[in-house]
Amino acid sequence: MQSSESFGEEQEFRVRKLELSDKSKGFIELLQQLSLCDSVSDKEFEDRFRELSSLGDDHVICVIEDPGSGKIVATGSVFIEKKFLRNCGKVGHIEDVVVDSSARGMNLGKKVIGFLTDHARAIGCYKVILDCSLENRIFYEKCGFKQKEIQMVMYFI
Ligand SMILES: CC(C)(COP(=O)(O)OP(=O)(O)OC[C@H]1O[C@@H](n2cnc3c(N)ncnc32)[C@H](O)[C@@H]1OP(=O)(O)O)[C@@H](O)C(=O)NCCC(=O)NCCS
Repeated sequence: MQSSESFGEEQEFRVRKLELSDKSKGFIELLQQLSLCDSVSDKEFEDRFRELSSLGDDHVICVIEDPGSGKIVATGSVFIEKKFLRNCGKVGHIEDVVVDSSARGMNLGKKVIGFLTDHARAIGCYKVILDCSLENRIFYEKCGFKQKEIQMVMYFI
């Protein structure tokens, strides 16, 4: 566990959009702390990166790079659902939020959520939603979310 002093000053941890070069900065290894994620080849990464980039503001992945080590220490994504309901309204869906285990408790998760919710608001979503485990409920409440309904799932694999 790295102490917060061994990272850069907190204000240096800025949120930015994912870049192609982030694969070599530990982006995939960070995702592996969240869920099953096999290794991704450079070609696979580039293909998926370009596919998502072509969606522009409708699918944004953000990251925080540790200015000291150059490693990606936090990430999250938001994609925009376009509806007929609510006067052809838009809903932001937040996914894949994770902070490196050595950098938790430094408000990086809150920064990631702030970036993603600001994005959803700025492009006109009337709400932003996400699924989380019960153990992360308080974190999301501190980010301004409230619990509503339940999640249902059907896995195909
Ligand atoms: C959940 C996670 C993203 C939080 O990131 P983080 O950078 O450690 O959180 P922050 O430092 O921004 O915390 C913000 C606030 O939430 C609180 N908090 C964070 N995680 C919490 C938890 N699990 N339970 C209760 N409070 C929590 C912090 O104490 C802080 O409170 P404060 O504002 O009163 O000081 C991180 O722990 C993580 O990556 N966990 C593993 C992956 C995961 O579960 N991702 C979520 C998928 S839905």
